[in-house]
Amino acid sequence: MGASVLQSPAFLVVVLTAFITLSILPQPVLGITRHYKFDIKLQNVTRLCHTKSIVSVNGQFPGPRIVAREGDQLLIKVVNHVQNNISIHWHGIRQLRSGWADGPAYITQCPIQTGQSYVYNFTIVGQRGTLWWHAHISWLRSTLYGPIIILPKRGVPYPFAKPYKEVPVIFGEWFNADPEAVITQALQTGGGPNVSDAYTINGLPGPLYNCSAEDTFKLKVKPGKTYLLRLINAALNDELFFSIANHTLQIVDVDAIYVKPFETETLLITPGQTTNVLLKTKSQYPSATFLMTARPYVTGQGTFDNSTVAGILEYEKPPNNVGSIKKLPLFKPTLPPLNDTSFAANFTQKLRSLASAQFPANVPQKIDKRFFFTVGLGTSSCHSNQTCQGPNGTMFQASINNVSFVMPTKALLQSHFSGQSNGVYNPNFPIYPLIQFNYTGTPPNNTMVSNGTKLVVLPYNTSVELILQDTSILGAESHPLHLHGFNFFVVGQGFGNFDPNKDPANFNLVDPIERNTVGVPAGGWVAIRFLADNPGVWFMHCHLEVHTSWGLKMAWIVLDGKLPNQKLPPPPADLPKC
Ligand code: C2O
Repeated sequence: MGASVLQSPAFLVVVLTAFITLSILPQPVLGITRHYKFDIKLQNVTRLCHTKSIVSVNGQFPGPRIVAREGDQLLIKVVNHVQNNISIHWHGIRQLRSGWADGPAYITQCPIQTGQSYVYNFTIVGQRGTLWWHAHISWLRSTLYGPIIILPKRGVPYPFAKPYKEVPVIFGEWFNADPEAVITQALQTGGGPNVSDAYTINGLPGPLYNCSAEDTFKLKVKPGKTYLLRLINAALNDELFFSIANHTLQIVDVDAIYVKPFETETLLITPGQTTNVLLKTKSQYPSATFLMTARPYVTGQGTFDNSTVAGILEYEKPPNNVGSIKKLPLFKPTLPPLNDTSFAANFTQKLRSLASAQFPANVPQKIDKRFFFTVGLGTSSCHSNQTCQGPNGTMFQASINNVSFVMPTKALLQSHFSGQSNGVYNPNFPIYPLIQFNYTGTPPNNTMVSNGTKLVVLPYNTSVELILQDTSILGAESHPLHLHGFNFFVVGQGFGNFDPNKDPANFNLVDPIERNTVGVPAGGWVAIRFLADNPGVWFMHCHLEVHTSWGLKMAWIVLDGKLPNQKLPPPPADLPKC
């Protein structure tokens, strides 16, 4: 009886169907392990007719690309051959339970000392697009940076037509002087640092600077094709407008998160942010070449580098035109005025998560803890009765809830993990400003900041809402705030002071943009939400490096959860020592 059932044709069909279904269902693709080696060395580089020795990775400037797929594990061995202490941050990588590999010096690790090395070990989970890596100590990221390209898992397409070619376009900021000397001097005098001499595209300032025409980024394209440009703003201190003359850009991904595509002629990118755009070239070979340019969006009071970096979009000559040496006219894009805050507001409002079935926007709907942080500049009195070069003889400082963060001399994550926080940090960061005032109006008389190494402690899986409120104490200013270890959803933004009674009603809890760096509007506020599902110590700071140096930074501790897969594993054996 039994045998006859097994031999019945109906049974065979069921077995066969099950077998076929199983073999054609998409199997979970396991990532691979990719090995990289970063040798930190000195290298001579000439720009704007100035030759100087810079700190670089593998003798490359900008540094090497990391290319991986979602799901891959990366093992990156960083060997320090220079006199400076070094640490490298993988900006935007979630670092799920791999906080030891995050990289900010004295936050998750002691820096790698001369002659030492450290292997950064992490896996890319749930991210696809462009991120980047950079040094995370002092101002060394001015020359130590490069792209991280995250392709979808093998066999998984982009949610847009496959581009013909992909090109990283990384903006930087070039100083003829040594950037380390620039910030050291600024911190000693209390004044603003000297500004940069040029912006760069892929390390090249371009033809609008003196002695720089040879150092121009050229994007050679064919007509009738789609190019994916992976834009990264690695500049130290400047948000940038970017445009390509006579071409439209379609935005498809920011901070390694797909967005609802939209077209724009000009985009804004803050330090720390990445933006993937599709560039459709003209269907016919045009009789012109086109500049792509970037220059700053600036809201602060101080001096800044107001120069313009340019690259060239050049169409390859059609086959029937071989040998023609006709000089083509050059078109130049028009960028918004330097302080165009309404452009910034309109542009950022357009960014929406894709929020599809395949790429959902998991916006926290219920909030466990609410925080209100003021961000902005302030002052402190000069060292021992001297006169400083900040406002009215004071020193520039920057703060969150009026606390200017003091860097510890031991790494916070190690102190937290070993239960030895005494003398390293205090878990008492104010969740609300201790003194309330009209944040975007006339400032109070005493605006001196306080100092401390203060953190917020969050239980595992706390859902957080954080209002970041700009202050106008030293003038309203946009601040690109970056959170390590998480993506957050930007559920609301506005000008003036946040109104807790009115503004939440307008929050977008359906398809808000998800990212790791957001511009707090000049003279306004932004509301973000995130789920604290990643145990560790996570830095949050303004990605304008000068503001970070002045103390616009703090950190969150996210505690372990109860389950084994909700705990931070012990540190790797080669974790650097202070
Ligand atoms: Cu891109 Cu804490 O930095």
